[in-house]
Amino acid sequence: MAIPMILDCDPGHDDALAIMLAAADPHLDLLAITTVAGNTTLDKATLNARRVCTIAGVSGVPVAAGCDRPLVDELRIADDIHGVSGLDGPAFGEPTVPLAGEHAVELTRRLLLDHPEPVTLVPTGPLTNVATLLRDHPEVAPKIREIVLMGGSTGRGNMTPYGEFNIAVDPEAADLVFRSGLPVTMIGLNVTHQALVTPEVVARFRALGTPLAEACVALMTFFGSAYERVFGLPDPPLHDPIAVARVIDPSLVACVAAPVAVELTGAHTRGATVVDLHHKTGEPDNAQVALHLDVDRFWDLVVGAVSSLSGSRAAGSPS
Ligand code: BDR
Ligand code: CA
Repeated sequence: MAIPMILDCDPGHDDALAIMLAAADPHLDLLAITTVAGNTTLDKATLNARRVCTIAGVSGVPVAAGCDRPLVDELRIADDIHGVSGLDGPAFGEPTVPLAGEHAVELTRRLLLDHPEPVTLVPTGPLTNVATLLRDHPEVAPKIREIVLMGGSTGRGNMTPYGEFNIAVDPEAADLVFRSGLPVTMIGLNVTHQALVTPEVVARFRALGTPLAEACVALMTFFGSAYERVFGLPDPPLHDPIAVARVIDPSLVACVAAPVAVELTGAHTRGATVVDLHHKTGEPDNAQVALHLDVDRFWDLVVGAVSSLSGSRAAGSPS
């Protein structure tokens, strides 16, 4: 039976590929796509999720907008990486996929309580929606099978020297999730930087020859230019789809159990994930921490997903 899951995202170039993988893979039953403020404002992230669903031909999956700012801090976006729109690169027409009327947190609560099986949550943006759900509706906890999140790092960060973007934007939300007692898997930068979009990967997308694949090429080309400008890294890491891939096939992403704490007060390290890989603190394990990606099989999965999506119309075609 397909694994029921909800993707909570902030598209975002890598979130866009996470949407395509989650919608296409037959091992998953994608119940909803929810959006959160992060890479860009909530309005833009939600529009982008609808744009991605439209060009990928993903219909029938509700898209709902969630929290428009972190629990405590002001929102800080990543327009240096994702551009003014949050999804710069391809030309998009007007999306035909509608916006659900419910708030993302309410939709998630309802889907969890209605579903006969526990549901997997895959957050690929700041954890504001998930933390709000757990804080305001603790009764849903038994209906969550696991939370497989992209965020954090066993080493250095990308938003600050030790803070990864999704955690550093909303550290209080991340702290609540890591301390929730639920099964949490952390897909951090230490593993996502193994999934580099090399020219060979771009060529595999281009060879598919579909309008959707061309949109992916445009997305990856913009993303690569931004990574080269900001980090001196021309082959950008495709972070978010790795969390989806871990749900599809856990053998793709090797993990170890470890205690993970979110730094809330450090003068220079607020938003860092402190991962006790060698069990020095005596704290109990609270997460599976990803360490290694089977890179070849990952790209086969992602390229195969894009290949299997027909797309409803070309990016840039008139509405
Ligand atoms: C994470 O931050 C965002 O920019 C990406 O979409 C990804 O979720 C990587 O640090
Ligand atoms: Ca993201």
